Amino acid sequence: MNKDIEEIVLSEKQISSLCDEIAGRINEDYKGSTPVLVCILKGSVVFYADLIRRLQCDCRLDFMAASSYGSGTASSGKVKITKELTTDITGRDVLLVEDILDTGNTLSYIKEYLSSFSPASVRICTLFDKPSRRLKDIEADYKGKTIDDVFIVGYGLDYNEKYRNLPYVGILKPEVYTK
Ligand code: IMP
Ligand code: MG
Repeated sequence: MNKDIEEIVLSEKQISSLCDEIAGRINEDYKGSTPVLVCILKGSVVFYADLIRRLQCDCRLDFMAASSYGSGTASSGKVKITKELTTDITGRDVLLVEDILDTGNTLSYIKEYLSSFSPASVRICTLFDKPSRRLKDIEADYKGKTIDDVFIVGYGLDYNEKYRNLPYVGILKPEVYTK
């Protein structure tokens, strides 16, 4: 285990079975549809790659990036889209794939922004949910694990761009971001 990790939240094996479970539900719900699966960069890239390989529907892939967090562990509240979609989503079913739904600032902004392109539907799939920190009235349609107010890294999730490549998800030792 990485020396900066206090405790493992999801092992590789647990991640894999959660992905199976979520993909199973998506496969049921999107039968007959060709959804646009939107990876919210960069944090969800690893989850996205695992999820899409478990989907049986004919789907399209696209990528978006938004910044809300700045460089620390606290959200700035302001959201800016830094990479736009290249797919025309008008009349399409859109599924946003996120690493973690925290305050909800990012996803509520993105959801509202995308609705101006008149998609048929916009749903949210998140690996983690931190409901205790929510500031916006937004819920995920598909979620992996609900966690308390702890700062986690790995499997795409970062602290100052570090730890994204860990194959598991763990709680970052507070001394790493308080020193
Ligand atoms: P929100 O806009 O506050 O919901 O924040 C969403 C984004 O904040 C996520 O996509 C992550 O990039 C980041 N974030 C929130 N909590 C954590 C965490 O515990 N570890 C790493 N990144 C986090
Ligand atoms: Mg991040």
